[in-house]
Amino acid sequence: RVREFNVLKSVGSTNAELLESSKDLPVGLYDILLAERQTAGRGRRGRVWVSPFAQNIYMSVAVRLSGGFSVLNGLSLAIGAAVADAIKTVCGIQVSLKWPNDVWYSEKKLAGLLLEVQGEQEGPVHVIIGLGVNVLMEREAGQAIDQPWTALSESCDVRVDRDQLCVALADSVLACLESYKAEGFAGLRELWDEYDLLKGRNVMVMSGDKCWSGEYLGVSDEGYALVRGEDGCLRSLAGGEITVRPV
Ligand code: BTN
Repeated sequence: RVREFNVLKSVGSTNAELLESSKDLPVGLYDILLAERQTAGRGRRGRVWVSPFAQNIYMSVAVRLSGGFSVLNGLSLAIGAAVADAIKTVCGIQVSLKWPNDVWYSEKKLAGLLLEVQGEQEGPVHVIIGLGVNVLMEREAGQAIDQPWTALSESCDVRVDRDQLCVALADSVLACLESYKAEGFAGLRELWDEYDLLKGRNVMVMSGDKCWSGEYLGVSDEGYALVRGEDGCLRSLAGGEITVRPV
């Protein structure tokens, strides 16, 4: 099932590299690329992903999914659950997922996901799943990060072996993709619920220049965030459009 598994010493971005090198990937196979360092690591919303040498995990997985763009609804959430599960198993810490797909530990960001997609609205889509996990990141290296962050070396009692964690992450992500292909996000929603950071909390929703608050009730089977506004109205929010922040 895995066609290529490569580890590079240094790369601009594992996502960018794999987007190019896995263009001919057939449905049913996976390509995986890891790097020890990224010189142009990509984060969400055009941010830089700080990627110093030999401290963290920078991994991308390529997959081709049939079914058009709609197959992507809920995919990044599903992968988030797989990542949380692998970290919990290897490191023994109860991490949380902050909708749509940040992995948090003690109110700080521990890992992030960036999905990049190529394809036609209706045809098979070529998806690159990029995953960055802060493992040994030193405070100095992380100075440029503009939000509260943590690394496994700070949050976990045992020393984390990056190789072991990489294998667990790859296994978990591939198993998740197989389940996702069969059942979509609905089959993974209960798992997601177990990790949901915001459940039952008051949140601020920012959408464009609008800002409103409400109670976050969890995610739907499609991966939407469900928020009841102060007017009592239940709204479902699609990924990417909004930011949900604890009040
Ligand atoms: C985020 O902003 O939360 C997403 C961060 C994703 C970072 C990973 S590291 C491996 C892969 N290659 C990249 O350039 N970005 C992703």
